[in-house]
Order: sequence, then C-alpha cells, then structure tokens
Amino acid sequence: TYINMIEKFRPQFHFSPEANWMNDPNGMVYYEGEYHLFYQYHPFGTTWGPMHWGHAVSKDLIHWDHLPIALAPDELGTIFSGSAVVDWNDTTGFFNGESGLVAIFTHADNYPDSDRPRQRQSLAYSTDNGRTWNKYDGNPVLEEESITDFRDPKVFWHKETNKWIMILAAGNHVRLYTSQDLKTWAFASEFGKEAGSHAGVWECPDLFKLPVNGNPNHNKWVMIVSIGNDSPYVEGSRTQYYIGDFDGLTFTNDYSNDTILWLDYGRDNYAGVTWSDIPNEDGRRIFLGWMSNWKYANETPTVSWRSAMTIPRELTLTESSDGVRIIQNPISELEKIRQEKYSWDELMIKPNENILSNVSGDQLEIIAEFELESSTEFGFKLRKSDSEETIIGYDAAENSLFVNRIKSGMTDFNGYFPCTHSAPLSINNNRVRMRIFVDWSSVEIFGNNGEIVITDQIFPDSASKGLELYTKGGNVKLVSLLIFQLESTI
Ligand code: FRU
Repeated sequence: TYINMIEKFRPQFHFSPEANWMNDPNGMVYYEGEYHLFYQYHPFGTTWGPMHWGHAVSKDLIHWDHLPIALAPDELGTIFSGSAVVDWNDTTGFFNGESGLVAIFTHADNYPDSDRPRQRQSLAYSTDNGRTWNKYDGNPVLEEESITDFRDPKVFWHKETNKWIMILAAGNHVRLYTSQDLKTWAFASEFGKEAGSHAGVWECPDLFKLPVNGNPNHNKWVMIVSIGNDSPYVEGSRTQYYIGDFDGLTFTNDYSNDTILWLDYGRDNYAGVTWSDIPNEDGRRIFLGWMSNWKYANETPTVSWRSAMTIPRELTLTESSDGVRIIQNPISELEKIRQEKYSWDELMIKPNENILSNVSGDQLEIIAEFELESSTEFGFKLRKSDSEETIIGYDAAENSLFVNRIKSGMTDFNGYFPCTHSAPLSINNNRVRMRIFVDWSSVEIFGNNGEIVITDQIFPDSASKGLELYTKGGNVKLVSLLIFQLESTI
C-alpha cells in the first residue's frame, strides 16, 4: 500500500501508520524471518478511540509492510496493549505440536452497570505467521477484580524454571504471574510500590536479562516501567527502568527506592518495550518506543495520521562508576540507509562562523566528537530557517546535553510542547560525543556511547532545512564530524 511520502510532517525512516491514530508498540516478536510490530490503533480517527491492534512486518526493522488489523474489539472489550511470543513447544495446544504465535493482551471494558474500568488479560493465536488471528475461547485468562488498572502484559519464557512469566502493570506497581500453558496463571510477586518514580500511573512494563559489559557470566535483569501523564508534572509521560535480579518469581532491585533511572530524557519516548524471540545467534535486545507524550499526543499537527515510533535501539548494560546502567544505540541496520556523506576533521570552531552554511538536509544522521576549549555552549541548530530552529547543544558549565524546541516549527498546539530539557552527559578526556537522527518530525540524540538519550518530536516547515554548527563564549574543537543524508524507507 502507498503512503504519500510528501504529506506534511510524515516521518521518512520511522514507522508511522498509513492513516489514523497510533499509540503503544505491541506484540513485538521475531518469527520465521520476520519482525512483527503490532500497535495500539484507532482505525476510525486521528485521536485515541476504541483500541485495535494494527500490524506491520519487516525483514530488517527499517522497511515495513503494512498488514490488515490483527485484533479488533469484541464482546469482552477493546484491545489494549500487550505482547506476543512464539510458543515453540506448543505449550498451549493451539498448534498441533508445531510452533506458532500467541498474543497476550488486555481486554478493556467496564464492570457491568458501572463506569469502573475492567481490564482482563486474554489470548489470541495465529497459525499463519500472524496474518490471521483466533481469539482463545477461554478468554479472559487472568483477572483481579480488586485492581482497577491492570494491563499491558509482557510475557516471556523463563528457561531456568521452565515457565512462562507475565509482568503487568497494576496502577502503582507491577505484578508477576507464572504459567505452564499461557492459559492458567499463578500469582508470583509484586514489585515497586515504594521504588522509583510514581509521578503517574504505571503502564507497559518489560523484564529481561542482559550481560553486563558483554560478560556472559555476569548478568543482570532489567525492568522497564512507563509512567503516565498525571498533573502537575510538565514532563508528561515517560519511561524509567530498574536493574536487579529475578529468580523466576521475584524481582529484587539493586538500588535504593529513591533511585530513579530514566530511559530517555526527551519528551517523546513512551510505552516502549523490547522484541521477543530474537534468535540466540543474534542475541540483541531491541527496543522500540512510541514517539509521543500523553500530554499532547492527541493534538500534534499532523492531518491524516498521528504518531510514529522511535528508531529501533539496541540495549546493552555497562558498569559505570554509578552502577549498572542501560546503554542505548541505534540498531546497525540503520547504516544501510546512509546516502550522501560529508566529513570534517580537526577544526577549531569559533563563535559566529558556520562551517555548515553550505549543507542542508531534512533526513540526517550526524556523528560528532568535540573537545572542550573555552566554549561555554556548543552544538547544532537543525531544521533551520529564518524563523525556525531546533537546538541540540552541550552546556559546558552544567555538563548537560539539551534540546531546545521552542522555535522548532509548529509548537502552539499545546502549551507544554515548546520547551527545553537536558540530560547529564559526562566529559571523557575532555571530549563529548553526539549521534543525532533527524527526521521530518523528530530528533533523537545519543550522548557519548549511548549513555543518555533524548527523543523529541518537532514540526518544522518543509523549507526549514538549514544546518549550523555553533559555539558560544569561546572556541570548541571539532575532533570529527560525519553527516549522512538518509534514504526514505516508506
Ligand atoms: C499506554 C496505555 C496502556 C494501554 C494503552 C491504551 O500508553 O495507556 O497502558 O494499554 O495505552 O491504548
């Protein structure tokens, strides 16, 4: 099917729905050579409404084929977020001894004669590589009447105990359940009532194991938890994570309850989780988030569709002086869409000069390394015209990387949208690195080796294509700079 590539603000190398409203990524699973991406979808409008699962598949996580809606509302309710797994050993009995895909999702409706939300977990399965889905006739498979917010099941197979594990969000904590067959679930434990950020309702958890510093004998468990948009926080919805251990029943947090670890310091990375069943030979843990924020998600200025996903990112763990932390990097497949290249080395950048005055572009990858001199602030101005610019800068006094989207283009659709925000970014040997992906309606910045990320939507005019490398207060040394034009993948 055809997407109009020049539709205003249409992302050119990020996943976006052909038409209408999208929110969370759902059911991400790899099976028989295909990456599946399902997503919260409202097919009858460009704002949130009765939820379906939209569907797309890809062989490389970059080029996507749009497929028909996978799951539609039924007598048990609408279809909220959830996950999908490969049932390799037919534990469910859905597959006649073969393997197949099972989706585990939340059915959302209200209790009878009441407006109290009811959220129950259900199954659907596919025997044809996700092209068609059957809802399990024993649905729902898990409900807890006393818990109102009870949703977004993420399921994985736990080898060590030979069981399926489900982690799901329950308002102010997550709950863990175990199962042999995905149909019957036993409560295992809960986590988080006292830990981390409670600035909003908990949603869309994930739980997985990763080696620390690539050492297969030293593993840690990562729990991702999204937190919703509750006033009065200006940040709106965002994503935190925990590092610890998991024994098949209970998660133990390595850090104190008041430690908050942010997955992203931007405003537009929410409800993200990771792909299931990526083969061991590959071994990557790949994350995708919804590139919006419930603060203004329904109001962004696109016309025929709303929202896009982040670029896919590989998550690894590193042991820093503060402890074990997530490192996030763009998947290497993105290098395939690099086109024309420009490069600079060993240049002293002075205030009021712009070495990029002859370069312009709307879809870019920028890789820069700077050495600090007398400059107090330096960085890039992107998607620039006389009246518009998005600033990505390093503040040398604060040791922070920031995005300023106050003049980034259309910003007046919501008072919270025009803003500046920053992330702590350390200096190593007097150097800092930035890797930036620019699409028509987003910027994603990976600081140093991927130790911090800032993801933000922007809505610049199509004519705002200028670029500037700037410094303030003194000079900065450009150690190296690479800029690539990026190919459109839609
Ligand atoms: C997160 C979320 C989920 C829910 C879905 C509904 O953005 O609120 O908790 O399942 O969106 O569309």
